[in-house]
Amino acid sequence: MLFSQASLLLALSTVVAAAPYEKRWFGSWGQESGSSVFDSFLEFGKRHSWRGRTTYQGQCNVAAVQMPQAPKPLPPPSEGLTLYHVAVGRGTQNYTCDTSNATAVPVAAGAVASLFNVTCMSADSPTLLSVIPNVALELPTPTANDATSPIYRDISGHHYFTDLTTAFFNLDTNLNTYGAGGFKKVNASDAPATAVKGQHGQGYGAVPWLKLQAKTKDECVFQEVYRINTAGGNPPTSCQGQAAEFEIQYSAEYWFYS
Ligand SMILES: *[C@@H]1O[C@H](CO)[C@@H](O)[C@H](O)[C@H]1NC(C)=O
Ligand SMILES: *[C@@H]1O[C@H](CO)[C@@H](O)[C@H](O)[C@H]1NC(C)=O
Ligand SMILES: *[C@@H]1O[C@H](CO)[C@@H](O)[C@H](O)[C@H]1NC(C)=O
Ligand SMILES: *[C@@H]1O[C@H](CO)[C@@H](O)[C@H](O)[C@H]1NC(C)=O
Repeated sequence: MLFSQASLLLALSTVVAAAPYEKRWFGSWGQESGSSVFDSFLEFGKRHSWRGRTTYQGQCNVAAVQMPQAPKPLPPPSEGLTLYHVAVGRGTQNYTCDTSNATAVPVAAGAVASLFNVTCMSADSPTLLSVIPNVALELPTPTANDATSPIYRDISGHHYFTDLTTAFFNLDTNLNTYGAGGFKKVNASDAPATAVKGQHGQGYGAVPWLKLQAKTKDECVFQEVYRINTAGGNPPTSCQGQAAEFEIQYSAEYWFYS
C-alpha cells in the first residue's frame, strides 16, 4: 500500500489551509461526490485495509484496539467489559446564562449530536480517526435535510439529554439496533492542550474527556461510554454579551463498552 496516512493528512491540511470555509465543504456532508473530505475519509477507512484487517461493510477485529488516553487518564472500562462500538459525534453543547446577573457564568444545559459509525476505523486507522473530530467540527451540523447524504449510510444514532444529568445515547435507527440508554458522568479529565479550541481554530477550548456509566444496569447492551478526542464545545468563561440560551459547536469520539 503506497498510500500512507501521513500523506493523506498532509493533503487534508493543505485543503483546509488553502480554501475559504464556504468553498471547502459545499455546505453539506458529502452530497456532492468528491466534495466532502469527511465522507471520503470514512470511505477510505473502510476500503483500505493496509493492515489486512478490514472487509468493506464487514465485521472488524476490535479486540486489540486501545482507546486513546487523556494526559491525566480516565479510569479504564470496568472489568469484563469489551469495546462494542465507536462513533464520531457532531453537534452542539448547550448553555444557559442568567442575563440579569452581571457576574454570571454559563451553565451547561445538555448537548445534542448525531453519531457516525467509525468502529472499523478505530481498528484499522487509529491515527486517522484521532483527527476526524477536528475535521467534523469544520463541517456544518447535520440536519434532517442531510438524511439523503452518503454519510447517513454510517449513522450510529443520536446523543441528547433527557434531563440535566442524563446523557442519552440512542443507537437504534432504521439501519441498526445497537442499543439505547441513559448515562451519568462518573469521571472527567481535561482535553490535551493541543486540542482544537473551536471552529476555524477559534473558541473557548475543547470539552473535557469523560467516562459515563449506565444509570440503570441492564437497560442497555452497552454499559459504559467514553467521550474522547474532543474538539470545541467549551463555553466562554463569563456570560457577558451572551444570550439566555446559546450553543457551542463541538465534535468528539464516543467509545461504547458492553
Ligand atoms: C477519576 O479517575 C482518576 C483516575 O482513575 C481518579 O484518580 C480520580 O479520583 C477519579 N475522580 C473521580 C471524581 O472519581
Ligand atoms: C451571579 O452569578 C455568580 C456567579 O455564578 C453567583 O455567584 C451569584 O450568586 C449570582 N448572583 C445572583 C444574584 O444570582
Ligand atoms: C459499525 O459498528 C459495528 C459494531 O457496533 C461494526 O460491526 C461495523 O463494522 C461498523 N461499521 C463501520 C463502517 O465501522
Ligand atoms: C439546545 O438543545 C436542544 C435539543 O436538546 C435544541 O432543540 C435547542 O435548540 C438547543 N439550543 C438552545 C439555544 O437551546
